[in-house]
Amino acid sequence: MAKKPNSKSAWPKGFVWGTSSSSYQIEGAVNEDGRGESIWDAQCKKIGGVAFGHTGDVACDHYHRYKDDIALMKKLGVGAYRFSTAWPRIQPTGTGAVNQAGLDFYDRITDTVLEAGIEPWVCLYHWDLPLALHDRGGWINRDSTGWFADYTAIVARRLGDRVKNFATFNELSVFTLFGYAYGWHAPGLKDEQAHFKSIHHVNLAHGASIDVLRSLVPDAQLGAVHNFTPAVPEKATPKNIKAARDLHEHWNLAFPEPQFLGYYPPGLAKALEPYIQPGDMAKICRPVDWFGLNHYGPIFCKASTEYMHGFAWGGSPDNAPNAKVGWAIYPEMFTETLLELTKRYKVPVIVAENGCGMGSGSDVPNAKGVANDSHRVDFLNQYTAAMHEAIAKGADVKGYFVWSMMDNFEWGLGYSQRYGMVHVDFDTQKRTPKESFHWFKRLIAGAPVGAYKNGKLPTDLRAAYEKAREGL
Ligand code: BG6
Repeated sequence: MAKKPNSKSAWPKGFVWGTSSSSYQIEGAVNEDGRGESIWDAQCKKIGGVAFGHTGDVACDHYHRYKDDIALMKKLGVGAYRFSTAWPRIQPTGTGAVNQAGLDFYDRITDTVLEAGIEPWVCLYHWDLPLALHDRGGWINRDSTGWFADYTAIVARRLGDRVKNFATFNELSVFTLFGYAYGWHAPGLKDEQAHFKSIHHVNLAHGASIDVLRSLVPDAQLGAVHNFTPAVPEKATPKNIKAARDLHEHWNLAFPEPQFLGYYPPGLAKALEPYIQPGDMAKICRPVDWFGLNHYGPIFCKASTEYMHGFAWGGSPDNAPNAKVGWAIYPEMFTETLLELTKRYKVPVIVAENGCGMGSGSDVPNAKGVANDSHRVDFLNQYTAAMHEAIAKGADVKGYFVWSMMDNFEWGLGYSQRYGMVHVDFDTQKRTPKESFHWFKRLIAGAPVGAYKNGKLPTDLRAAYEKAREGL
């Protein structure tokens, strides 16, 4: 049963407030202390692989500045910090010998975070696969299950005495769809069968990793972080409704359904059949303790013959609410998603990412050192209010992590998008807390919840959205 917000605090007792990051997006130091290459290092070297030829070589230089960054988190007042371990730092070629120096780095992070009174939440995979494993097929190779289980065991043995929250993967449908079907993300493939294989193998690797974590860290709380997002037809036509249904199955259901319920959604089951061996579904469907949700806003989609699987990203309704963040925002759909997940998968939800990005010219500190990101304050205000509404209606939400503590390397967009509550000057590495940092600090300290503005979908799109999900 979800706990109702109590009268003293607007939020349930023990609610976790945190920030999220990922290794490749902040660490830099790509050639230090024996780190191996990842598929994202390779992606950055490809012409056109990343906007403006940006790379993660230095990023936020967090590898060297982690103490200052964690001190800032302490100032912010968060109770938790979600970071990811870089597999190529720990096993430079993905299998075999451990690189102790790489593992030591995460040991230092864990200790420093704990010393600051912050709980470490570790995600084992945030997209930086060792390049040497990709050369052996990466997630297309069924052996990846064993590779990932071994790597999990290395991290669990080293950090499991202090880390009590582990996520196996981050946004499993993003890195498989964008990396193996669309070629937008590393490793840059456009191959339908590779995409189907990667879905099944990542699911198997998740199950194997959960088993390893359970046996090595029995008192830990485990889960995976999914990008479960409402898929709304951009216009209410039968073709777009079909596209929204297909996108919903690929984007939202391909991983949670087998992991929680033991089967693939109907639209994917046949395509995956050739790769499923007897006993696989039971290996994937392992009990977990929470559902990690990343939410940035609904996806407006359309039918398209240009894209593999027949769906594509479309435009948002005219005059859609946008909180000046550059995309349509419908906080009511966040409320709905939190309620839906509570009902569907029957475990507490952790909002593992929520936040917004703006072009690189935004949020720049003025002469007085003030970085006024009022759009982000507005966005976060609306989304935390929507989360509060969901909790009041019975959603079992136990935590909320902002993406992100500081500006960082935004994958294919390089440094052209800033998501941080702390501005990073990438020339000098100077950090400047933005207005949103101060706003979040106040919220954590008990400031009143913002007003709930439930940006409503146009009625025809609402009906089309519901039709697209019928029976699923
Ligand atoms: C998620 C990722 O996709 O959202 C993060 O887990 C990423 O790594 C963040 O930086 C913002 O990305 P997007 O896709 O909304 O631009």
